[in-house]
Amino acid sequence: MLPRAFFVSSLLTTSLVSGQGVGSYQSETHPKMTWQQCSGTGGSSCKSVSGEVVIDANWRWLHVKGDYTNCYDGNKWNTTLCSSNDKCSTSCVVEGADYPATYGITASGNALTLKFVTKGSYSTNIGSRTYLMKDTNTYQTFNLIGNEFTFDVDVSQLPCGLNGALYFVVMDAKGQGTAGAKYGTGYCDGQCPRDLKFINGKANAVGWQPSSNDQNAGVGERGSCCAEMDVWEANSISTALTPHSCDSATFVECSGDNCGGTYSGTRYSGPCDANGCDFNPYRLGVTDFYGKGKTVDTSKPFTVVTQFLGSGTTLSEIKRYYVQGSKVIENPQPKTPGITGNSITQAWCDAENAANKEEVYPFKDHGGMQSMANGMAKGMVLVMSLWDDHYANMLWLDSTYPTDADASTPGAARGDCATSSGVPADVESKNGNAQVKYSNIKFGPIGSTFKQP
Ligand SMILES: *[C@@H]1O[C@H](CO)[C@@H](O)[C@H](O)[C@H]1NC(C)=O
Repeated sequence: MLPRAFFVSSLLTTSLVSGQGVGSYQSETHPKMTWQQCSGTGGSSCKSVSGEVVIDANWRWLHVKGDYTNCYDGNKWNTTLCSSNDKCSTSCVVEGADYPATYGITASGNALTLKFVTKGSYSTNIGSRTYLMKDTNTYQTFNLIGNEFTFDVDVSQLPCGLNGALYFVVMDAKGQGTAGAKYGTGYCDGQCPRDLKFINGKANAVGWQPSSNDQNAGVGERGSCCAEMDVWEANSISTALTPHSCDSATFVECSGDNCGGTYSGTRYSGPCDANGCDFNPYRLGVTDFYGKGKTVDTSKPFTVVTQFLGSGTTLSEIKRYYVQGSKVIENPQPKTPGITGNSITQAWCDAENAANKEEVYPFKDHGGMQSMANGMAKGMVLVMSLWDDHYANMLWLDSTYPTDADASTPGAARGDCATSSGVPADVESKNGNAQVKYSNIKFGPIGSTFKQP
């Protein structure tokens, strides 16, 4: 009796709660994008792989199954339809996407371009978050340990306050809910985001607080955590390379302020490292390295190489090179007293934390490099996004932050943007034409994607 009853109840659970089905007004056709799998050395033997990209489900139209009534509009849920998360999950469906017209996303050959503000017929879209796919229903996953990941980027059209980000998170390759990866579900990261409308196939409507300064977003009771490897967070002024650890590298759902991170009142109360161990040359005192007309000249495209040295489930070092024109450029040696070395190791993170006199050290508290290694060994999904920052105006990337800190304090100055810059209302109205282009992705064992000096 008992096993049988259990079987029936789990079936019921599946059919009622595994929601987030799909609508039928717009077919879902992913933009196609190739990338290269390399072997050997120096980029000489790379094979083209056919891929495609999908936009995250959070950007999509969410409406009643079978009619046009919005389940979510602006930054609010329809509280009749979504009086409970379970009811909402069965009543509401997510739609297909018109990538160029609605979201400003275009792919061509080996390149992906994301536009910042796109005025569509029904709505104005701000930024996007996309995932590389292996096939229509499955995200591509990468084990970065012992490998290098290389891509070209054009950040010349990204001013203060914008962030063109290329990074990896430990999402499930199949996505979540009925919609699955085909509709860009299942996102998680090191901030344990609570702005997701659906988590694990279930709506996040109950307790939703609309944002006070973002007409498209809000914060729900539930959050979605997993380890995050920020290979690239950048604009034309500043750049950061940042691992974020988590107690569990793989997806974990969190609740309320126990999520910690950006979306909670208590930043350090969650299971993940909200701050990360960041390598930002400017923040390390090397102010002439990255920017327009600097050593890495952001007025033109360049190649970004990131090596993940290690083997098995050990990640020992994260190393960065740039290639621009015929020059290979290593990450610079930090100038902050007490930090030596131009690559990220656990010891390097310890030194940075001490030198910047940080009051907390969440990267280490939540597992440090070992957590990253655990996530990488599971396989990570590639995210390419463009966003502005309704919480801190991106000042943590490109200005002095906290804004009242003396810029000469180690770690305070991160870029030369004004502390008044990056306000979303300003950048969305003045820099709507901003865009980022990612192209020429290559992946393979250390030394296989470029000519290492
Ligand atoms: C919310 O949903 C109910 C039930 O479908 C509908 O009658 C109502 O018009 C909706 N409200 C809005 C503002 O769309």
